[in-house]
Amino acid sequence: MAGVFITFEGLDHTGKSTQWRLLGDYLRQKHYDVLMTMEPGGSELGRAIRTVLLDPDRRGMDALTEAFLLMADRHYHVQHVIWPALEAGRVVLCDRYIDSTVAYQGYGGGLDLGLCEELNRMATGGLLPQLTILLDTGSIDALGVGDRPGDRIETRGNDFRRRVREGYLALARSHPERIRVIAASQSPAEVHLAVVEEVERVLGGAAYARGRIL
Ligand SMILES: Nc1ncnc2c1ncn2[C@@H]1O[C@H](COP(=O)(O)OP(=O)(O)OP(=O)(O)O)[C@@H](O)[C@H]1O
Ligand SMILES: [Mg+2]
Repeated sequence: MAGVFITFEGLDHTGKSTQWRLLGDYLRQKHYDVLMTMEPGGSELGRAIRTVLLDPDRRGMDALTEAFLLMADRHYHVQHVIWPALEAGRVVLCDRYIDSTVAYQGYGGGLDLGLCEELNRMATGGLLPQLTILLDTGSIDALGVGDRPGDRIETRGNDFRRRVREGYLALARSHPERIRVIAASQSPAEVHLAVVEEVERVLGGAAYARGRIL
């Protein structure tokens, strides 16, 4: 595999898509052949699955049902979009990937963590990103969705988000070489600089690896 695979993770509204786009622009300016993609919804089939997943009329789906839909999206996406791009030597930037499943369906939704990892392995054939940027706001209160006393749904929402954040941080502790935590409380431009620093490290290493193989 000659390409480079980079993913973005974090809670909703931490600026993933903003940084994904800024990095895409930066790399294209440097003449890298970049593929911008996302999960769920990075393929034609995935876009249909994403519609089902996000349809407000289908709320009440349990974490395992959600996970199976996400795995169908992921398996197809890896096979038909990510792998071909990596084999063609492209830089693949993916907005959300395997860590979202462990954080959201596992830590957030209570699905067995080992099962989440096994599902991820089945869906991806073990394909891991060289780098995962985890955007973290420092606390969920910094997301502008703080607890409102008396509002059960909002409060439950915050408990869920707290578990997801803890899950992400646990993942980062378990995979410090792959997952790099960047403070999302900085301005978008400052976050971008920190992202570029991490990415340049990985791209330098990839070029070196390519040189050795050839
Ligand atoms: N570092 C930042 N500081 C303040 N606001 C930001 C920052 N980065 C992005 N934003 C703003 O926050 C909002 C959410 O950003 P963005 O859509 O990039 O987040 P996201 O993590 O992709 O969210 P989602 O999970 O909903 O897709 C946008 O209005 C964006 O302009
Ligand atoms: Mg987004």
